[in-house]
Amino acid sequence: MKNYNRMPEKFLWGGATAANQYEGGWDEDGRGPSIADILTGGSVDKERRLTPPAPLPEEFYPNHQATDFYHHWKEDIALFAEMGFKVYRFSISWSRVFPNGDEETPNEKGLKFYDNVIDELRKYNIEPLITISHYENPLHLSLEYGGWKNRKMIDFYLRFAKVLFERYKGKVKYWLTFNEINMLTQDFGAVFCAGMLDPKDVCEQSRYQAMHHQLVASALAVSMAHEINPEFMLGCMLAYHNGYPYTCHPDDILYAQQFGQIHNSIAGDVHVRGYYPGFAARYFEEHGIQLEVLQEDKEILKKGTVDFFTISYYSSSCVSVTKDGEKTAGNGSDNLKNPYLKASDWGWQIDATGLRYVLNQIYDRYQIPIMIVENGLGAVDQLTEDGKIHDDYRIEYMRRHIEQMKEAIHDGVDLIGYTCWGCTDLVSASTGEYKKRYGLIYVNKNDDGTGDFSRIRKDSFYWYKKVIESCGEEF
Ligand code: BG6
Repeated sequence: MKNYNRMPEKFLWGGATAANQYEGGWDEDGRGPSIADILTGGSVDKERRLTPPAPLPEEFYPNHQATDFYHHWKEDIALFAEMGFKVYRFSISWSRVFPNGDEETPNEKGLKFYDNVIDELRKYNIEPLITISHYENPLHLSLEYGGWKNRKMIDFYLRFAKVLFERYKGKVKYWLTFNEINMLTQDFGAVFCAGMLDPKDVCEQSRYQAMHHQLVASALAVSMAHEINPEFMLGCMLAYHNGYPYTCHPDDILYAQQFGQIHNSIAGDVHVRGYYPGFAARYFEEHGIQLEVLQEDKEILKKGTVDFFTISYYSSSCVSVTKDGEKTAGNGSDNLKNPYLKASDWGWQIDATGLRYVLNQIYDRYQIPIMIVENGLGAVDQLTEDGKIHDDYRIEYMRRHIEQMKEAIHDGVDLIGYTCWGCTDLVSASTGEYKKRYGLIYVNKNDDGTGDFSRIRKDSFYWYKKVIESCGEEF
């Protein structure tokens, strides 16, 4: 019998980050401001604030320096290599390449930075996996054009994508068009995913129109990429929402199904199948959403379907038609607590079994390769006096999720890779804190502004190295 305790030899183990949360260097070498640069720091009980049209001198903007990959890329990539990474997922800062977003020609100095990063990864045989757009667009595109509710964004995005595909056609194989595109089904996606800064756009009409524009942009990018290099693998990326029925009442069962259809399958189906599912039409009609879909869009979507499916998965929750029950926090969703699950320091419910459940669900529906491109535990880490971080809670979290990945592969799921989130500590997207750490590598930087950005290997670093070395057998 096959040894399912060992992951396939070709399995892509690695880690993931996003430019706006990791790079810093926000105004260096010609980079323009992005929407993330006008987001203040926050905390669990203090929401991040937007300060358009520019940062204010009296406010703290953690993304400006983030954890300073811009000046530590060599050191960090060496640490990734030491862990044995096969793949590293990162995003390109759009405003580093096109500072305003609507220029004709790119910023050569910005591209040079990514040339260095990619060459360094290649030096260690680490496969780059690039997210073209991860929660940031040039601020100018938001101020001048209103963000993604405007169809013009498609052309700006394609110009950006084309530069990347052509420049890295011999060096990069794996690409993701948009990070967590389906967060546009929720209010906070208006700013994060679509750069729509007008509070009036925090509504379904603008959000779904913006998502449609991104889906069209994604499909056009997929077709363009395949023409530039037929070997390219283009993927979609969804924040996979796992909402269990709160009770076994048939109304809750149906409600949970509808929750998944809306939050996962609308975007997933368009990306993979190339058309909107039937339930989307009903949802739009019943919610007064009038999508402007051009005749040509249908052809574009049909042609530009993705090669693989990727997800972020952190937690699960419950949903009920009555909405009665204690609320839980989570990655974007505002649902009900599951009495059988424990939660992280930030209240996200930990559910490793749920990972196996969603992997099976996705594979049953689409039958294309899947990669988990974000998973991890945001926790408060203590630096001991002798300069160590004993993060056994993070190891336990990852161990239990990896165990379920093995089960899913045994179930027949074509799971091809795993990149844990924030392999290096970075700024939290939802709260804007440094304190919410995900990394296997500690970065000495704190919410009060102290810290020298020095890097320290956590216990999880050594543990993950062993996992990778043994193809998942020793975990
Ligand atoms: C995902 C995002 O939603 O979750 C990341 O793609 C984000 O950008 C991650 O950092 C974890 O969320 P948070 O809010 O804890 O940083």
